[in-house]
Amino acid sequence: MDKISQYEILLRALKSERFVSGSALAETLQISRTVVNRRLKELADMGLRVHAVTGKGYHLADPFTLLDDPPADFPAQILWYRHLLTTSTNEDALALSRLQSRPVLVATEYQTQGRGRRGRAWQSEFGKDLAFSLCLPLSAPETLRPYSLAAGVLLAEALRDFCGVPVSVKWPNDLQVNGAKLAGILTELHTMDERTWIVLGIGMNVNSQELGKLDQAAVSLRDLLASPLDRSALLARLAKALAAALGNDFDTDWHKQWPALDALAGKPVQIESGDRCQLGTAAGVAPDGALLVDTEVGQKRITGGQVSVRAL
Ligand code: BTN
Repeated sequence: MDKISQYEILLRALKSERFVSGSALAETLQISRTVVNRRLKELADMGLRVHAVTGKGYHLADPFTLLDDPPADFPAQILWYRHLLTTSTNEDALALSRLQSRPVLVATEYQTQGRGRRGRAWQSEFGKDLAFSLCLPLSAPETLRPYSLAAGVLLAEALRDFCGVPVSVKWPNDLQVNGAKLAGILTELHTMDERTWIVLGIGMNVNSQELGKLDQAAVSLRDLLASPLDRSALLARLAKALAAALGNDFDTDWHKQWPALDALAGKPVQIESGDRCQLGTAAGVAPDGALLVDTEVGQKRITGGQVSVRAL
């Protein structure tokens, strides 16, 4: 049995309310107590808190439910993959979609090399949040189409519908609630042998409670709703929202919905590009996806790339 299957069995055994003895775990897995201890240490290194009480055994300090495989009501037109852990679902989804030539969604409980925008790392709590990537071959690739804005609008509307939280979209790729980050979208286009794939990687704070550690204001759905959410049902609902746009390469009417969901509209903002910094007031988004900012020297169009926009 490989290591990842061993982790999975351990997690399923440890999430019961009762303690499980080390010898019972060793027996279930057909491995030695030493290897059980090693695997538990490795899980602890990934952030899982395992309670160990002498004479009683082990259990998870903060139990969670693994994602259903597949979730009920997952849209049939998307191929579903779930990894207990992986490096980055963006990489997995691209590799699988190339083989399948179909839209693929890869979800995981934990990423060891999760990627964020602008070369940053993305970390989410094991089994608590959502980390998934949707990859599809584009039939008519347009390098300038604002895919992440279209996806952001679909996801924000789905979240509002699913749990009634007033989610807005912060240009170009964040979902926010009252100025705090709920989710980020990493959009990557890959071209090979004259074909182009888009990967939409979504990291969402769902049931985590450790967000104070981050360098920016962040919030989870659990914080907002004061109770944990069913991640599988949420993931199926988000996938369904994205599936609706697959047929036309994400050429949606996002621009019509944008004003109602715009997190920055009318707010003072600071635009940082390299070592340059400019102040202005956000004034909506153009149909091509450029952020419009009123400044002392007139209205500026800000396009993605290495630009960072902060509400002041
Ligand atoms: C950002 O706000 O910087 C974007 C974060 C995107 C994170 C997600 S988690 C699933 C997918 N896999 C990755 O490696 N990154 C994206």
